[in-house]
Amino acid sequence: MRIEIFIDEESVPRQTLEPPATLELDTEGLADGPHRLRVHAIEDSGTVGVEEIPFTVRNGPGIAVVGLSDGDTVRGRIPLLINAFASRPGDAFEPQRAETPAPIPTWAWVLFLVVVAWGMWYVATELRAYQAAATAPAASQAASAPGAPGTASQPSWAVLGEQVYGNKCAACHQLTGQGLPGVFPPLKGSAVVTAPDPTEHIRTVLRGLSGKTIGGVTYGSAMPAFADQLTNDEVAAVLSHERTSWGNQAPPVKPEDVIARRQ
Ligand code: HEC
Repeated sequence: MRIEIFIDEESVPRQTLEPPATLELDTEGLADGPHRLRVHAIEDSGTVGVEEIPFTVRNGPGIAVVGLSDGDTVRGRIPLLINAFASRPGDAFEPQRAETPAPIPTWAWVLFLVVVAWGMWYVATELRAYQAAATAPAASQAASAPGAPGTASQPSWAVLGEQVYGNKCAACHQLTGQGLPGVFPPLKGSAVVTAPDPTEHIRTVLRGLSGKTIGGVTYGSAMPAFADQLTNDEVAAVLSHERTSWGNQAPPVKPEDVIARRQ
């Protein structure tokens, strides 16, 4: 018994072997494309058995085509992406190949857009919170404001002035210092508040005021007296606050100034 090996239409066997046999099929000499391995087993009596195995050789570079697949129906012009990658003979089945750029899948775009939208929303809300905090009357800002009267041991002087004003004065004179026309006089730009000599300013707050005509307006209600309600520090702080707020620019008042005018 002997075995004869043919490829394609060869009439002369490439190899003749005794069974069982191993052989190496060298494809380098074959053109890329479909081929046929034919094995003839010939018995000593002359009877021939035939086995045929079709196979495909690909020794040249691999080819990838994006944009057209088997059996597609197309019309007009169609864009194609074509890439070729070399295989290294010897590497059994791990061809070192160039990456074929594939189009980014739709789900990746959707995910990307969702992330971007979320990011923009997050930044917008953070920004709004930040702006709200920045425009709110910041106590810390006032505390660090320079020019507070008194000593360095009272860094919260400006805060104290703002607090006393908010609690005791703003109901009538308003936080804006503009009062209510005809009802409560403005402290913004008031001659008394901006006078370099604080005597009348201090007296008005300690003893109150009524029946005075300010800027041609006579106010029907009275200004209450605060001598019993506020300490010297508090009076000095609130007066300094009035003297340095709403555009007023007058020298601040010290606790000693208040003490001197208590009697
Ligand atoms: C209940 C309302 C009310 C409150 C509270 C009040 N004031 Fe007055 N204030 C008045 C009125 C009314 C006048 C005007 C009185 C007049 O013209 O006779 C006035 C006048 C003044 C004046 C004189 C303004 C000028 O131009 O002559 C000063 C200064 C003043 N207030 C400061 C303060 C301070 C400081 C506080 C808080 C500690 C305060 N007021 C709380 C009602 C108020």
